[in-house]
Amino acid sequence: MAKEGYLNLLPVQHKKSKEPGDSRAMMRSRRNFLEAEYYLPMAKAIAALIDKNKTESSPMHILDMGCGEGYYSRQIEAFCENSADLDLHGIDIAKNAIFAAAKKQENARFIVASNTRLPYADNYFDLLLRVYAPSNDDEVKRILKSEGLLLTVTPGPRHLWQLKEFIYKKVNEHDITVDLPEGFKEIESQRISYTIKPDQDHRMALLQMTPFAWRAKGEMLNNIQKATGLEIETDFILTLAKSE
Ligand SMILES: C[S@@+](CC[C@H](N)C(=O)[O-])C[C@H]1O[C@@H](n2cnc3c(N)ncnc32)[C@H](O)[C@@H]1O
Repeated sequence: MAKEGYLNLLPVQHKKSKEPGDSRAMMRSRRNFLEAEYYLPMAKAIAALIDKNKTESSPMHILDMGCGEGYYSRQIEAFCENSADLDLHGIDIAKNAIFAAAKKQENARFIVASNTRLPYADNYFDLLLRVYAPSNDDEVKRILKSEGLLLTVTPGPRHLWQLKEFIYKKVNEHDITVDLPEGFKEIESQRISYTIKPDQDHRMALLQMTPFAWRAKGEMLNNIQKATGLEIETDFILTLAKSE
């Protein structure tokens, strides 16, 4: 147990690299961008879905898988109606992310571990959250109660369209098929779309936290940086699913 209150359960022999998960630079960018609240409407939609689907069990056990710096876990605590009755957990393979998450939220428990080997008992969780994060189907099925819910956030068709216009000659809509574990069916889906106007620093931070960051080099990068008053569409799909 680290003094910041998190557990590090990723033994050296299970680390595939020295710094597993997202790099420090990527995390810094993400923290910088998310804390400026550009994604707050999506985070509030997550909280509203949790409220709407509050289970009978008290407390309701929730795990954010691949939680990064814990932004969504903090928003759940801030915006869910009955947050005192939520037992919030977050795991990520990146130690630095968990360090930052644990420092910012005393009322949640954070663990450095991999989604492929989760340190939780069978049938423990009422809801699992995956926001742009990988997961392992067998582990999802194992730790989720039989009536438990899986809430997945993925990019919608037009997510970050105007940023992509700088990078690709022809921008294609995002494929919106959501990967659900076998035997799970969708029970509700919501599309949240709105426009943001990040300042120059936040625009660069947003770029750095996306998978297409590595393509934006040289003049392309300059153009993105210099563009004044650029408005960017965000587009998210929230999918709530449960075991059939
Ligand atoms: C795109 S980021 C999303 C982070 C966070 N959910 C958010 O939206 O701010 C993906 C996260 O998954 C983590 N990750 C990657 N592989 C993982 C694994 N096998 N187990 C747990 N976390 C993992 C990364 O370290 C990173 O923090």
